[in-house]
Amino acid sequence: MHKNRLRLVGALAVALMAAGVGTGVPAQAHDKPTTLADLAQRHGRYYGSATDNPELVDEPYKAILGSEFDMITPGNGQKWYATEPQQGVFDFSKGDEIVNLARANHQRVRGHTLVWHSQLPDWLTSREWTATELRAVLKKHIQTEVRHYRGKIYAWDVVNEAFNEDGTYRETIFYKTLGPGYIADALRWAHQADPKAKLYLNDYNVEAVGPKSDAYYKLAKELKAQGVPLHGFGLQAHLALQYGYPTTLEDNLRRFARLGLDTALTEVDIRMILPADETKLATQAQWYRDLTEACLAVRRCVGITLWDYTDKYSWIPAFFEGQGAALPWDEQLQPKPAYFAIKEALKK
Ligand code: G3I
Repeated sequence: MHKNRLRLVGALAVALMAAGVGTGVPAQAHDKPTTLADLAQRHGRYYGSATDNPELVDEPYKAILGSEFDMITPGNGQKWYATEPQQGVFDFSKGDEIVNLARANHQRVRGHTLVWHSQLPDWLTSREWTATELRAVLKKHIQTEVRHYRGKIYAWDVVNEAFNEDGTYRETIFYKTLGPGYIADALRWAHQADPKAKLYLNDYNVEAVGPKSDAYYKLAKELKAQGVPLHGFGLQAHLALQYGYPTTLEDNLRRFARLGLDTALTEVDIRMILPADETKLATQAQWYRDLTEACLAVRRCVGITLWDYTDKYSWIPAFFEGQGAALPWDEQLQPKPAYFAIKEALKK
């Protein structure tokens, strides 16, 4: 055979092998590395990440965000301060940027969040409202935002963080002015505006069975009995190594499923006291594995979302001094032991 020809045949063989031909490995396995989303989908689940507008200039960051996940949550862009900065003046540009990016990447979106006591605009918090006034303001905010995103949002965190740690209602502007009925109203208004979106209540420190998750269980049961459109319970899962793993997570997910609700882990991160070391990272990996397995064990646990996927953009260091390293990718966008632990859990 001619030398050039030989070289060509050799190159072809290498290319075929690289494509998996003749090796018994499907070509696809070589084309595209298996992602968390791919693996989660095999279980009928999603694997998501939150993101925020300022980060979207970081191309290597965006590449992983766009490929590894199949669900996206805007970390701030859909909150009240961003979407209705002046009364009756709506600005969806930040949320739109993220929703459009997700759609371009064939990812679904969890909307976050319609009713929350934090990150409210000044016009709302700096004056007193009568119940009639605030009801109208709340209804308009919810319906304008949900209508704007109609058909583009898989699930909304309708009411966020409504309870205190002891299971009493948090004394928010909404609770104080409107009473506990604001929750059912918010769900009904959101449902009118987008009947296909799944509607969630969402909170932190509700992963274990305890007074706060009991309060949600009781409320969810009542709302379901009254026919209020509630479809899911979101457990944020902002965990911390120093406080221990919520070992009753799976039982907790199961009792909400028995009420006929979906559940989701919506804002997962597992922080530690810095500096990180091999032992802490190994424990963290084990926790990520455990919570992934807990979700997979309960049919109605529909998916898991990381509260951003990399330590580069985590909210933790700014809020908890001396803590961090909470996510499965490090600040250089390199996967940590937690990433491989999640993959192993999803491969089972
Ligand atoms: O927009 C301003 C910017 O103009 C200013 O220059 C900058 C300087 O600090 O602050 C910017 O606002 C920050 C905002 O994020 C947007 O980046 C706020 O200071 C900061 O407090 C805010 O933090 C957000 C936090 O919610 C507020 O409570 C985090 O990014 C966001 O990840 C976090 O998310 C919440 C969930 O919505 C609900 N569950 C808990 C979770 C963690 O707190």
